[in-house]
Amino acid sequence: MKIKKICCIGAGYVGGPTMAVIAKKCPEIQVTVVDLNKERIAAWNDTDVNNIPVYEPGLGDIVAEARGRNLFFSTQVDEAIQEADMVFISVNTPTKTYGEGKGQAADLKWIELCARQIARVSTTDKIIVEKSTLPVRTASTLKDILSHTGNNINFQILSNPEFLAEGTAVEDLLSPDRVLIGGDPSPKGQAAVEALVEIYSTWVPTERILTTNLWSSELSKLTANAFLAQRVSSINAISEICEVTEADVNEVSRAIGSDSRVGPKFLKASVGFGGSCFQKDILNLVYIARTYGLNEVANYWEQVIIMNDHQKRRFAKKVISSLYNTVSGKKIAFLGWAFKKDTNDTRESAAIYVADHLLNENAELSVFDPKVTAQQVYTDLDYLGTRESTKNASLVTVTKDPYETCKGSHAVAVLTEWDEFNSYDWQKIYDNMLKPAYVFDGRDILETEKLKAIGFRVYTIGKTQTQ
Ligand SMILES: NC(=O)c1ccc[n+]([C@@H]2O[C@H](COP(=O)([O-])OP(=O)(O)OC[C@H]3O[C@@H](n4cnc5c(N)ncnc54)[C@H](O)[C@@H]3O)[C@@H](O)[C@H]2O)c1
Repeated sequence: MKIKKICCIGAGYVGGPTMAVIAKKCPEIQVTVVDLNKERIAAWNDTDVNNIPVYEPGLGDIVAEARGRNLFFSTQVDEAIQEADMVFISVNTPTKTYGEGKGQAADLKWIELCARQIARVSTTDKIIVEKSTLPVRTASTLKDILSHTGNNINFQILSNPEFLAEGTAVEDLLSPDRVLIGGDPSPKGQAAVEALVEIYSTWVPTERILTTNLWSSELSKLTANAFLAQRVSSINAISEICEVTEADVNEVSRAIGSDSRVGPKFLKASVGFGGSCFQKDILNLVYIARTYGLNEVANYWEQVIIMNDHQKRRFAKKVISSLYNTVSGKKIAFLGWAFKKDTNDTRESAAIYVADHLLNENAELSVFDPKVTAQQVYTDLDYLGTRESTKNASLVTVTKDPYETCKGSHAVAVLTEWDEFNSYDWQKIYDNMLKPAYVFDGRDILETEKLKAIGFRVYTIGKTQTQ
């Protein structure tokens, strides 16, 4: 089965970059990415690729190369589904905010809507690919909905979870550690698996394309994120011990990461993990385990989230206790708002929760992030619903100049590991701050000794404060 036309439902952080790379690597396939969000599609179609809605290094060039040739962004969802041989579902699957499973289960409302829409408009056989991260056994729900169309169309469902990391999405897509494809063991199911394998094998070595059954594939994505987040929470737990024992968390990381059984990656202590996936996917795993009555399993994974919340809270508390136990009316400068460097994505960013904690203490915040807009900062704080948005607007300012952000502040807090922060003129920043001037480095990216020599009091995650 040779795929000629692909439709991808959802033009977000996954759908956009993933389809851009498929279009680049497979110029003979027509790829149409559709979304209900008109502004998002308009931004993907902006003639200036600097304005596409997802910031990822290298993505603009790929979009510029393929767009209009075999890559299209559109709001005509029905038409694109109808024409396609293969439909990727790449819509959001956030944590439920209502009803049964509230706060833990994945909200599959958008997935079900996609399935019903595909069922309604399809007139030819199609391969449906789950690209969104989904609870294990979702494919059976999709199958159930799709097999009741009454028009004898054959739908094959595949699970093809995405493992890209924001900030390195293009690199990850061009050279993935592995591509995972789960499918039905029947001959038709295996033919569908082969069709997707053929697409990826255009640029991914075949030994890196893993095929499994549907349920293993669905569960592997949740498991992968749970393991990654668990490493962050594990090293963060150790960072707190380091701070009271004069051990240095970087030295501990290096020592344990040199063991080939452990490995060096993802062992960097920080103010806490964020992003749209880790927390949501672990909560989902916890919910699934509880649903099956596996309470010990659920409690085990839940602890990863509890530790992460603790890390964000204790960072905020450190700021407060250092500033003589009150931050009321004091200006605190935030460098960074995105959940990690090289992305404009702020979902579940640690900065939001640290800010919320400080705002509860009536701090005045000034925020600078190289890629995040002022509107996004206010939206993130308002979304928490902790206080009136007018109050957020009066306590928080967002500037486009890091020196302006830091001017007149009592403390600078580094919340995102943007490379440029280290290259700032820290003497100039110090000269324009109130004294004693504090730096709270939540990402351990600054040169502590240099800052101390200037006169700063420096707190770094995972290191005992000596000043
Ligand atoms: N962001 C990541 O780093 C990442 C990595 C791997 C997997 N995932 C998973 O991929 C999925 C998508 O994540 P994302 O970050 O791209 O989300 P996103 O919110 O950026 O994008 C989802 C898009 O789907 C659109 N949409 C929703 N319902 C629709 C419908 N019925 N028809 C058309 N469009 C519709 C929304 O308007 C939105 O633009 C999630 O399940 C997520 O867990 C995300």
